[in-house]
Amino acid sequence: MPFPTRRVMIFRTLTGGVTALVASAVAWARPAEATETDAESTTILAKTKSIPVGGGKIIQGKWVVTQPKKGTFRAFSAKCTHQGCTVASVSGGTINCPCHGSKFGISDGAVARGPASRALPSQRIKVSKGVIRLG
Ligand code: FES
Repeated sequence: MPFPTRRVMIFRTLTGGVTALVASAVAWARPAEATETDAESTTILAKTKSIPVGGGKIIQGKWVVTQPKKGTFRAFSAKCTHQGCTVASVSGGTINCPCHGSKFGISDGAVARGPASRALPSQRIKVSKGVIRLG
């Protein structure tokens, strides 16, 4: 096989660069598809009937799903905003952290008792056909 000439090498370099540039532009121009294929968007958190009215459930140590009123569902991060422990229970109308005793409201994640000073971040969800999914 003959050794490529300098002219051939330059041509190959330029065409390779153009191909990479076109591929980047196509990927950048389609953010909606990236969202649709995002695995997180279809994650099932729980069945609605498994979440008690006036209470909630901790899901996989990552999320807390609550039902403050019949048919109203909320979800929050399960990571305490004080020092990052995973909340351990939902009872008495609050989401409870075992590490230093912080409590958060089940309807909005607001601090009901410190030492945490910030609410639990809320998580968007979709509720359909008795199933609660990450939204
Ligand atoms: S980490 Fe939750 S109260 Fe301190």
